[in-house]
Amino acid sequence: MTQRVHNFSAGPAALPEAVLEQAQREMLDYAGTGMSVMEMSHRSGAFIDIASRAEQSFRQLLSIPENYHVLFLQGGATAHFAAIPMNLLGDGSGPAKRVDYINTGAWSVKAIKEAGKYADVNVAASSEDTNFDRIPEVSKWQLSDNAAYLHLCSNETIGGVQFHEFPDSEVPVVADMSSDILSRPLNINDFGVIYAGAQKNIGPAGLTMVVVRDDLLGDVHPLLPSVLNYKSQAAADSMSNTPPTYGWYLAGLVFDWLLANGGVAGAQERNARKASKLYGAIEASNYYRAPVQASARSLMNVPFTLANADQDKAFVAGAEARGLMNLKGHRSVGGMRASLYNAVTEASVDALIDYMQDFEREHG
Ligand SMILES: Cc1ncc(COP(=O)(O)O)c(C=O)c1O
Repeated sequence: MTQRVHNFSAGPAALPEAVLEQAQREMLDYAGTGMSVMEMSHRSGAFIDIASRAEQSFRQLLSIPENYHVLFLQGGATAHFAAIPMNLLGDGSGPAKRVDYINTGAWSVKAIKEAGKYADVNVAASSEDTNFDRIPEVSKWQLSDNAAYLHLCSNETIGGVQFHEFPDSEVPVVADMSSDILSRPLNINDFGVIYAGAQKNIGPAGLTMVVVRDDLLGDVHPLLPSVLNYKSQAAADSMSNTPPTYGWYLAGLVFDWLLANGGVAGAQERNARKASKLYGAIEASNYYRAPVQASARSLMNVPFTLANADQDKAFVAGAEARGLMNLKGHRSVGGMRASLYNAVTEASVDALIDYMQDFEREHG
């Protein structure tokens, strides 16, 4: 019997078991082709069908309007930290263009640093002064008069801080949604570009999705690598080079699994229930503490600390003994972090809470 653990990894992360089973069934012979999806040409009829159905399912999940392109690219969100300014700021001639960034944590910091190579970056708001425990109050954002776009990270995977509302903006909003895409419904018209690495809520690492509004595609920086050129990739149906075919296929299976389970509204409901159980258990205890302010707490990544950090190692070891894996917080912040992406079940959250209560009784 296969023994599955409770996987709280921040990414690559748990995938729906039903999807893994389907991929397993189709591994050696996909739909009568006599080969695995990994072994087929991206130009074959079978793969083009997989690719276009995955795009349709994704569009359906997020109600993506016709004037947005959906791209299946590579490079991780990190490559797109650079691709965003290189695609959106014209041909790079003249003085560096102004862009606004909101700094809510470690991933914002990386995006800001990378954009600074190509743009004049204005950090319009930051929560660094309170150790990234909140979303800076929108009324205090110091936006530029002439920014080409406004960038934010919708969910800080390390700090566990999430935007629960998005700003009204006169300029296009560009959002890194790597760790909360498909966790809730969105109004796509609120955004100019959304980008996300796949390895949390979509599928395996190696695929990066980009949703971009058509009118934002134009002249690009002359040094932009062609594989990261959104305009030419849109024209080539994301196949200006060999796409990450297996990741694309698996993403399609995950999209269909979500559609069969109430879509993103269903996911939102399950995610809210899981997160509120875990935050509730933390709040109810005198031993655990959630460092993020309640209004900005992430439903996807729940960081928490123990009253005594000397017990961190024992906590992790005891958790692993019960099959509760990947709870150690990111090395930059310490403590614990439970990631509760779409594929993490409520039963896993219940098992975690039981363990936390037992550990507190013993060590608290
Ligand atoms: C919010 C966010 N942005 C960007 C990244 C970087 O993604 P990648 O490692 O795929 O480049 C991550 C990775 O975990 C992330 O969580």
